[in-house]
Amino acid sequence: MEAARMMFVAFFAVIAFCLSTTSASPTPVVIWHGMGDSCCNPLSMGSIKRMIEEKVGGGIYVRSLEIGSNIIEDTENGFLLNVNKQIDMVCSKLQKDPKLQQGYNAMGFSQGGQFLRAIAQKCPNPPMLNLVSFGGQHQGVYGFPRCPGENQTMCDYVRKLLNLGAYISWIQDNLVQAEYWHDPLNEAEYRAKSVFLADINQEKAFNATYKANLMKLKNLVLVKFSEDTMVDPKESEWFGFYVEGQAKAVYNMTQSKLYQQDLLGLKELNESGRLALLESPTDHLQFTEEWFEANILKYLK
Ligand SMILES: *[C@@H]1O[C@H](CO)[C@@H](O)[C@H](O)[C@H]1NC(C)=O
Ligand SMILES: *[C@@H]1O[C@H](CO)[C@@H](O)[C@H](O)[C@H]1NC(C)=O
Ligand SMILES: *[C@@H]1O[C@H](CO)[C@@H](O)[C@H](O)[C@H]1NC(C)=O
Ligand SMILES: *[C@@H]1O[C@H](CO)[C@@H](O)[C@H](O)[C@H]1NC(C)=O
Repeated sequence: MEAARMMFVAFFAVIAFCLSTTSASPTPVVIWHGMGDSCCNPLSMGSIKRMIEEKVGGGIYVRSLEIGSNIIEDTENGFLLNVNKQIDMVCSKLQKDPKLQQGYNAMGFSQGGQFLRAIAQKCPNPPMLNLVSFGGQHQGVYGFPRCPGENQTMCDYVRKLLNLGAYISWIQDNLVQAEYWHDPLNEAEYRAKSVFLADINQEKAFNATYKANLMKLKNLVLVKFSEDTMVDPKESEWFGFYVEGQAKAVYNMTQSKLYQQDLLGLKELNESGRLALLESPTDHLQFTEEWFEANILKYLK
């Protein structure tokens, strides 16, 4: 009797093992939303989440990050919670999520793009596999021409503070957009005072860990929106920026100090075929489902 029961248990253990190895579920995806948005807006991140679930299939786990304990807090924190604190919060969320421990692919939207890059550089466990940045501002912004979303109140407030002085310490420490504000007329001040972007872009001190961690990615995929009217300059989406001392001429990634001195491993990623610079012929974040399917889906499968 006991022997039969043992065999029965063993039989099911074998079946369960076979199921778990042959139909392993797809690599999970972590999403970080943009400014003025939240984890769960059905018209933005909600529909992206549904699209991934549908197109990848297999019961894929998609986690859209919520920064704070509800949607209102999540939206407000996108303006007013120090990015370095957000990075620490998200790192701890990722480490505590049992479904992510074997690794995950990451998709960042707008400022969520540079924030997830910071996660790749500073939070190597669990491992990020592919990172797709949609319109992320990897060299920051110098201007705030238009705001995404319908609510202009927060945008007007952000503009007022940036005009007052992005590098004034109480603004720098609290206003998210000041933390990736990059003034090409004042590079020295940017390097000295930017608490977030100058740090992850190796402008303060060279941190070898940042480079070693970023190079662990399987692929770094940077999407630029060629008709972008919200990001100034849009070349920042591919690590380009205004040439120092003026705000008209731009350099591109190949010409950047980051690439030429290979301070983040971008050059090595490129030379090993793991850097993709993609372009969507639309305004900020406005890619079509067909474009997504043709260009991005392969990184999630
Ligand atoms: C470099 O970055 C790592 C990861 O964030 C951090 O633990 C370390 O303290 C940094 N090193 C320096 C010299 O800042
Ligand atoms: C816009 O956002 C502000 C700050 O979060 C809020 O107080 C206000 O009610 C919002 N306005 C609209 C029209 O949603
Ligand atoms: C990556 O390498 C290719 C082939 O060598 C080169 O054409 C391209 O310009 C490089 N990318 C960058 C950003 O320099
Ligand atoms: C940057 O510009 C140079 C000079 O025009 C060009 O050779 C290079 O391919 C460009 N790199 C990228 C990534 O577009």
